[in-house]
Amino acid sequence: MQINECFLKLSSNYLFADIAKRVKAFKAEHPEADVISLGIGDVTQPLAPAVVEALHKAADEMASCATFRGYGPEQGYDFLRNAIVEHDFRARGINVAADEIFVSDGAKSDTGNFQELLSSDCVVAVTDPVYPVYVDSNVMTARCIVTLPCTAENGFVPAFPQEHVDVIYLCYPNNPTGTTLTKEQLKAWVDYALATDALIFYDAAYEAFIRHDDIPHSIYEIPGAKQCAVEFHSYSKTAGFTGVRCGYTVVPKEVKSERMKSEVFNETQYSLNQLWNRRQCTKFNGTSYLSQRAAEAIYAPEGKQQIQKTINYYMQNATLMRKALTDMGFTVYGGTDAPYIWVKTPKCMSSWEFFDWMLYSAHVVCTPGAGFGSSGEGYVRLTAFGTHENTEKALRRIDSKL
Ligand code: MLT
Repeated sequence: MQINECFLKLSSNYLFADIAKRVKAFKAEHPEADVISLGIGDVTQPLAPAVVEALHKAADEMASCATFRGYGPEQGYDFLRNAIVEHDFRARGINVAADEIFVSDGAKSDTGNFQELLSSDCVVAVTDPVYPVYVDSNVMTARCIVTLPCTAENGFVPAFPQEHVDVIYLCYPNNPTGTTLTKEQLKAWVDYALATDALIFYDAAYEAFIRHDDIPHSIYEIPGAKQCAVEFHSYSKTAGFTGVRCGYTVVPKEVKSERMKSEVFNETQYSLNQLWNRRQCTKFNGTSYLSQRAAEAIYAPEGKQQIQKTINYYMQNATLMRKALTDMGFTVYGGTDAPYIWVKTPKCMSSWEFFDWMLYSAHVVCTPGAGFGSSGEGYVRLTAFGTHENTEKALRRIDSKL
């Protein structure tokens, strides 16, 4: 039996697993250290009361024969798909149909799995630095990957690829840099994709953190995007669902892809919506009923208000971190419309050197920029998802150790 050798081309650990391993080793050596994690973007605030109430209610339904639910629809329950259509799209003047929404257990799975619909000889472009899932999932399929550097010099706005690419992954607000694209900048990408017959996989997992009006929450705010873009959403950061698990992907019916030349089929294009539906029905048994009821609750007025309060809480951290780090002499990016702060390492330290310095001197965990790609070298990422207390404490410690 032979393994898929593409797996041997991956780095031995997934980035966040690697960091967790290093932190575990540090804690074993220094059991007395009070380590503060501003590394992986995991939330710290409890679920909104409206969400908790919905979870209890759904659990009670599961306890009675009359209201018990077994397998749900692979695509998600209508109550949630309709709420998404209404609140995330129609409210912004975007026309998306419920059968273009596919509810999932989160954006990580969907951004990792969606590439299965493409042939292995498709060329994929990713921004650099980048969320490692896009790269690793394409390496597993032996695809050719083109990187688009996003650096301080180009204002973290990627230039168009030099060669033809079939797919471009864009994530805005960006993980890891915390930077954004304006409507104009995103429009240029949509126009580019339409002109070159490329697809955009748009990860909008952090859209709830946008503060400024000229920054699009969805790629479908741009005319023509429904012909060329698939969009991924997550409740993980929006509503603290990293443990609950729920997200969704929008696959417009207009998004078509070239069909492999085949004598069996006459058509030359095929709808990704149908293919994704087929894939999900085969490999996915739906997101839990409880998670979907919990997600639905964030669209009711009190739920909306409660999750906004928590988002504001995290963005207060981001504002504080930007200011404190700048006052300490660091150059920082992001953190105004995103929960991530991208920090230039001091004294030409490498990302991993600075990671070690933060861990060993300040007992603070960050994410080394180099883990997100070569253009991330010389940076680290800090998340705003800590508690106020820990964020303030971490900043004080960094300041005192400089
Ligand atoms: C991150 O820290 O980049 C995210 O939490 C990872 C994820 O969402 O999977």
